[in-house]
Amino acid sequence: MTKFYFDGQGVDALPDETVLDALLRQGHPVNYSCKKGRCKTCLVQHLEGELTAGAQRGLNSRLKESHYLCSCQCRVTEGLKLKSLLAQDLFIPAKLYSKEYLSDSVVKLKIEAAEKIEHRAGQHINLRRFDGLTRSYSVTNGAYSEFIELHVRRKYNGQFSDWLFNHASTGENILIQGPWGDCCYSPDYIDDSLILIGNGTGLGAVYGIARDALMSGHRGEIFLYHGAKTFEQLYQHSTLLKMMMEYRNFTYQACIESDTEGEEHLSSRVILGNPFDVAMSRHPFDTRMPCDSQNRFYLCGEPGFVSIGQKTIFLNGTPLDRVHVLSFDYKDLRSRPRD
Ligand code: FES
Repeated sequence: MTKFYFDGQGVDALPDETVLDALLRQGHPVNYSCKKGRCKTCLVQHLEGELTAGAQRGLNSRLKESHYLCSCQCRVTEGLKLKSLLAQDLFIPAKLYSKEYLSDSVVKLKIEAAEKIEHRAGQHINLRRFDGLTRSYSVTNGAYSEFIELHVRRKYNGQFSDWLFNHASTGENILIQGPWGDCCYSPDYIDDSLILIGNGTGLGAVYGIARDALMSGHRGEIFLYHGAKTFEQLYQHSTLLKMMMEYRNFTYQACIESDTEGEEHLSSRVILGNPFDVAMSRHPFDTRMPCDSQNRFYLCGEPGFVSIGQKTIFLNGTPLDRVHVLSFDYKDLRSRPRD
């Protein structure tokens, strides 16, 4: 056993265990989400002792200088002393400005922060409610709006998403941290062909990235593929069809797993299939000169979908700096862990 200290209390860790796992195993109510160093919900502050490599990877210089680290990325070392995070250290006050139900399981939230936050679609933020419970959500709009917009799917057993969906009311006080991440549009990409693929509520981020691109006067083509189980889950279908009428360089394709109405909803804009496979069939790789390709990919959604897609695109010769990903590595709420 290796002993470390958290808020002055001794904690025994197993060999090679992370700080987060040791704290959770011993019943400390610490926040976490992805366990991969991405969401930053698990930050703690370093007081004394040796830090293992990677404990501060991905943190900005302000957080590093303030001695924060990701507890999920730091292995326990003997005598390490850490302290929990005070909300006022990193979070700023915000209010839930409005709620709009986009389907029977997805709600669009507008958050009004007390200070101006420079956010872009495709980044993520952390929300913290009155009891300290914190979760990470992807941002679906750029800083042209004074609000931060999120598309939240109510998850089965999801404590926070259920609260946002069913109970939180407009005017509700909340805390906000972030934004983080760089799965975003940049004016440097103005002539590229953007291929945006979102699965489930991964649509929120790719839809926001497409809007950011169009509002920045993007000159290249933009192709957006949305994957859902059924037609009813295509929760921005009519908005995206309208966008397609409005912008000549924007194309939208919906891909569903099955049609509950016996193919009644199928058309050229709604087809059966996996959005990634459909996108790859329409934008084949030029294996002779892959580096000359103007294609730039965005993948947003569940971790398996994102990591397989990213690997496939990379193995076909696309440099990784042309593949932008946003993976929803949320806390596993099931009794049996996902594969
Ligand atoms: S960064 Fe540690 S749980 Fe996500």
